Amino acid sequence: MSKTIKKIAVLTSGGDSPGMNAAIRAVVRTCAYHNIECVGIYRGYEGLMEGDFKQMNARSVRGIINKGGTILKSARSKEFRTKEGRLQAHKMLVEENVDALVAIGGDGTFTGAMIFSQEFDFPVMGIPGTIDNDIVGTSHTLGFDTALNTVVDAIDKIRDTASSHNRLFFIEVMGRDVGHIALNVGIAGGAEEILIPEEDLGLDRLVESLNKSRKSGKSSSIVVVAEGDKIGKNIFELKDYVDENMEGYDVRVSVLGHMQRGGPPSCFDRVLASRMGVKAVESLMEGKTSYMVGLINGKMELTPLEKAIKGKTKINLELLRVSDIMST
Ligand code: F6P
Repeated sequence: MSKTIKKIAVLTSGGDSPGMNAAIRAVVRTCAYHNIECVGIYRGYEGLMEGDFKQMNARSVRGIINKGGTILKSARSKEFRTKEGRLQAHKMLVEENVDALVAIGGDGTFTGAMIFSQEFDFPVMGIPGTIDNDIVGTSHTLGFDTALNTVVDAIDKIRDTASSHNRLFFIEVMGRDVGHIALNVGIAGGAEEILIPEEDLGLDRLVESLNKSRKSGKSSSIVVVAEGDKIGKNIFELKDYVDENMEGYDVRVSVLGHMQRGGPPSCFDRVLASRMGVKAVESLMEGKTSYMVGLINGKMELTPLEKAIKGKTKINLELLRVSDIMST
């Protein structure tokens, strides 16, 4: 029989994402609801190894549901990848009498959590927090929806200036290995082309397509490029290529960067974070370990961490088709 959980620790690790604070709040408040002690760990696995803990209660998380970033701070830890680092982390948790850990982050965070759990038979639960939406076992990661809204807002603004000057804009959005942000904002922002890592359009076809839309009467164009796209070496080289091989457009580049990771979480992300926090704590109470909580067909479900880490998310082919038709 699994040990009764009396104390839970929570940390955020890897790149931050809007909704992480709402998830911390949900974990802390669910613990308080069930009379479980809760400690926050600062700076992810770095703080875990250093014992940078803070006792938290329902009031410690007031006023944060609407805040971007993470009050617990985040870090990417090299040391936690070593056995010595994890031994040190385990020592700190044992000294603090912590029975289980909730780790909020992406695949790097989950890889660390899974290895740690296996090595020390320590209960862990993952909450997926990354704007990239690149985790298997949930239709939405925390922060994805907010990032989409932030980017669409930026594209709308860029379109205003693009159409005033008859310009072609390449807009780079985040997505290290995947094109989920690019594909969605491309459709919502009315982009003429969307370049994503999952699909290789090819430079010649890109120029051909832009020429076609220019001839059809478009005076300005937006091309959304996922940062992980493989078509051009980088977005500036892509611009140079189009500049050299296409006439009639003044071409500009806009790299949106880290503004995509900030800002107040959307209503969707706040609700999702709250549901995930409740599910994570209550699953640990039921003796479950090494799972990630996620949204599948509208319901909170558990997916083994191993599957969440090893799986590759698929691009929505229907959205690809919609984007093709819309750019006619
Ligand atoms: O993983 C989320 C993400 O936003 C990626 O899309 C991006 O490549 C990366 O973080 C950038 O992270 P950082 O600049 O914090 O290393």
